[in-house]
Amino acid sequence: MSTIKISDGIIKDDILVVGISSKSGKGALQIESGDLALDHKALIATLNDMGATGKNDEITRIPGTSTRLVIFTGLGKAHSTYSDETLRRAAGAAARSLAGNTSATFALPASTPSAVKAVAEGAGLGSYLFDQFRGSTKSAQKSPLKTITVYSSLVSGADAKALSLHAETVSRYTNLVRDLINTPPSHLTPASFCSIISDAVKEAGGASIGLKVSVMTDTQLKAKGYGGIIGVGQGSANPPRLLNVSYTPKGIKAKKKYAYVGKGITFDTGGLALKPALGMEAMKSDMSGAAAVCAATIALAILKVPVAIEAWAPLAENMVSDTATRPSDVITIYGGKTVEVLNPDAEGRLVLGDALVKAQEAGDLDAIIDVATLTGAQVVALGTRTSAVMTNNEEFSQHFMDITKISGEAFWPMPLPVELRASLDSPVADMANIGERMGGMLVAGLFLKEFIPDELPWLHLDIAGPAYNESEPHGYTPVGGTGVALRSLIEMAIAAGK
Ligand code: BES
Ligand code: MN
Ligand code: ZN
Repeated sequence: MSTIKISDGIIKDDILVVGISSKSGKGALQIESGDLALDHKALIATLNDMGATGKNDEITRIPGTSTRLVIFTGLGKAHSTYSDETLRRAAGAAARSLAGNTSATFALPASTPSAVKAVAEGAGLGSYLFDQFRGSTKSAQKSPLKTITVYSSLVSGADAKALSLHAETVSRYTNLVRDLINTPPSHLTPASFCSIISDAVKEAGGASIGLKVSVMTDTQLKAKGYGGIIGVGQGSANPPRLLNVSYTPKGIKAKKKYAYVGKGITFDTGGLALKPALGMEAMKSDMSGAAAVCAATIALAILKVPVAIEAWAPLAENMVSDTATRPSDVITIYGGKTVEVLNPDAEGRLVLGDALVKAQEAGDLDAIIDVATLTGAQVVALGTRTSAVMTNNEEFSQHFMDITKISGEAFWPMPLPVELRASLDSPVADMANIGERMGGMLVAGLFLKEFIPDELPWLHLDIAGPAYNESEPHGYTPVGGTGVALRSLIEMAIAAGK
């Protein structure tokens, strides 16, 4: 985990990161070093000789004069100002390329405090390595940057401290989400997920910062009627859990109370609707939503945000065995709704049903947000980098879309058309767990909507594609777990506390 500071003092690092962009038409380069003055002319000549183009994710290294090395990171087309997300990605790509080095100073064109924050976040998010499960190849791995300095005269004193704490916290808890996703199911079970989160809560300060963890075991879940979590988990030797991380602001009155609910399938084989072997390994990421909601809650406590958060993670392993749920079995979700399980591979909605009902039990929520790697249809509809948002409250969804401009995460609104609801009717139970195949992401959303009253603002975030990067690293995003949704959950709570 890197430490991040913001300063416009003398540059002590041997490595300087600077932006370059391409001016339209002439194919000419433009150097974008923000508040740092540089001899652009000489540098541009060298960059042209090197064949630099300034496109996104392009890194060009040249020996420096005042620093030993200058890293140019592409910003794409030249603009008078760059979006926060462009800066976040450019800083991230540079940080990734700097693995193996200790420290670097980032001088990028950040002209607002939120742009400075984006640079700091991007540099932190690009500094990630997952080597926990390496043995003989461990020493060959390059460690990420340890110290990041963002060169800026825009913020100083307490403001600079607050921004760097935010960026450090976002980076630390994104990395926790990524670690949880990348941890193989041999080592990440519902029970071990709970202990990793409990340890993270303790390390963050636990009760002293308003955090509390509680875990319901499979025995307790069975006794209390959590038929979704039990039904999905009953085929596995690793019994299910329901994890609750709660944050109550310390010494300040909470302005609002939100529930965050995340799908926590530690491995999804599809159950008796067994998935094909090709690509099944990616289903270790099926707990990405659970990781995001728990990590966001810890981060919000560290940032002392004046909003109460109840995070719920229904955790189960969806396995194949003689005790697994059979297609046509009927289960009873917590609270009494019965569901005919026509397809045991549509398991996320079953565990979420239990958790959504439980989350509302106290009856004091201002909003509820669920996060889930719920459907393959999400990936078909929006691809691997754009997540979906569905809702029962257009205004709240629009507010969320505005917040994603701050977080920089790509989401897109999707409808919940009423006419698809009938396809979930079951001849024997209150509902079936699958319906019309076309528009499968929306059908899954409609299933969840059955557990939410119209008056409670609700968002359903389907992150199936973006949660796990199976192709190349890009910007601040590594291969494997990405940590998507965490920043938007954090920014939503910050906005609610204002
Ligand atoms: N975990 C999967 C969804 C998924 C697919 C996540 C691809 C990430 C990448 C989910 O449990 C699932 O299997 N959904 C089924 C639902 C279907 C049976 C109605 C699907 O999308 O195929
Ligand atoms: Mn499934
Ligand atoms: Zn799943």
